[in-house]
Amino acid sequence: MHRPLLAATAASVLAAPLAASELRDTALDYFAPLPSTLMAPKDNKITPEKIDLGKALFFDPRMSASGVFSCNSCHNLATGGDDNMPVSIGHGWQTGPRNSPTVLNSVFNVAQFWDGRAEDLKAQAKGPVQAGVEMANTPENVVATLNSMPQYVEWFKGAFPDEADPVTFDNFAKAIEAYEVTLTTPAPFDAYLNGNEDALTADQKAGLELFIDNGCVACHSGVNVGGHDYYPFGLIEKPGADVLPEGDVGRFAVTETADDEYVFRASPLRNVELTAPYFHSGVVWGLKEAVQIMSISQLGDKMPDAEVDKIVAFLGSLTGEMPEVVYPVLPPETDTTPRPSG
Ligand code: HEM
Ligand code: HEM
Repeated sequence: MHRPLLAATAASVLAAPLAASELRDTALDYFAPLPSTLMAPKDNKITPEKIDLGKALFFDPRMSASGVFSCNSCHNLATGGDDNMPVSIGHGWQTGPRNSPTVLNSVFNVAQFWDGRAEDLKAQAKGPVQAGVEMANTPENVVATLNSMPQYVEWFKGAFPDEADPVTFDNFAKAIEAYEVTLTTPAPFDAYLNGNEDALTADQKAGLELFIDNGCVACHSGVNVGGHDYYPFGLIEKPGADVLPEGDVGRFAVTETADDEYVFRASPLRNVELTAPYFHSGVVWGLKEAVQIMSISQLGDKMPDAEVDKIVAFLGSLTGEMPEVVYPVLPPETDTTPRPSG
């Protein structure tokens, strides 16, 4: 199919199928395999104690005002790190405005949220706790809750050994970041990039070639196959208001720059086959349909069904090995633990 605009931004418009190693070399121009060691986030030394504390906090519903919602409620590690709902349900059964993205591999995104409004994972972790439609809590109440449980106080001391008063909201967020750094999912595509030609099926390789050739790669590249930059959703043709609701102007709300209206972070595509429904509006349940919407809205052309199938096959090669999660046993509450409210 003809892709005049964005295909030109891919290194080459590929006339004939590439030889095996050529395709891999071309892919390595755009993508990178997962690193073999943990990422080192800014101002947050990762230690086993901090990871364990962060894991407990991630699973603890008492971090929400109601005692019902943990991070895992909307980023369920058993179902791809998201909640598989169009938009999330939080405090008091309220629905939020956007679909919940996966926390898996989120450390590789340039910034957090669909509009990139949080610089990194520790900045992000302070948001949902306070959001009225999510956990509806306050930093003071989180700290009071943590201080009421001696086991948590011990864990904070172990995770932040140089601090006199380690039980703080900042450290709560840093511990969660440390845990999230571990949530990476090596996939067949990584094995392929690392040199194992057999890690992808023939269809997946054909899909990879189409993904590059058709220009998807112009916006979905890097280690997370997206998540690294911002683009208008509806670059060529705006999707209908059901898919792109008018009220959500995306990055414009962050930068207040006219050019950023309806601009969103290109979605990271690792594990995308596990995280329906799609787009920030969460209204599209099928991956084939999502790919076709992208083709029309971002590339300006309907894609033949057979090509969509191959691209979907390629996207399947981004489904990784899930982190093994042993459900944490959490500290028991005490007489002084703030009671659930709301
Ligand atoms: C976004 C983590 C609690 C719903 C995110 C992101 C992360 C994250 C890392 C950004 C991912 C990305 O941009 O790719 C956490 C943590 C939580 C928590 C650590 C606990 C402290 C919740 C809860 C809900 C929720 C309880 C649902 C009630 C969402 C939604 C977004 C989001 C809807 C997208 C919001 C937007 O882009 O405006 N979360 N989350 N999260 N999370 Fe959570
Ligand atoms: C979202 C695939 C081309 C920018 C998505 C999603 C998929 C996808 C499956 C939804 C992911 C999710 O909800 O978790 C593709 C494919 C493409 C393509 C297969 C080629 C046919 C592009 C291009 C651009 C782009 C060329 C930039 C011009 C975006 C943006 C989003 C997105 C900004 C987020 C949309 C939102 O706010 O909901 N892409 N994409 N994509 N893609 Fe693409």
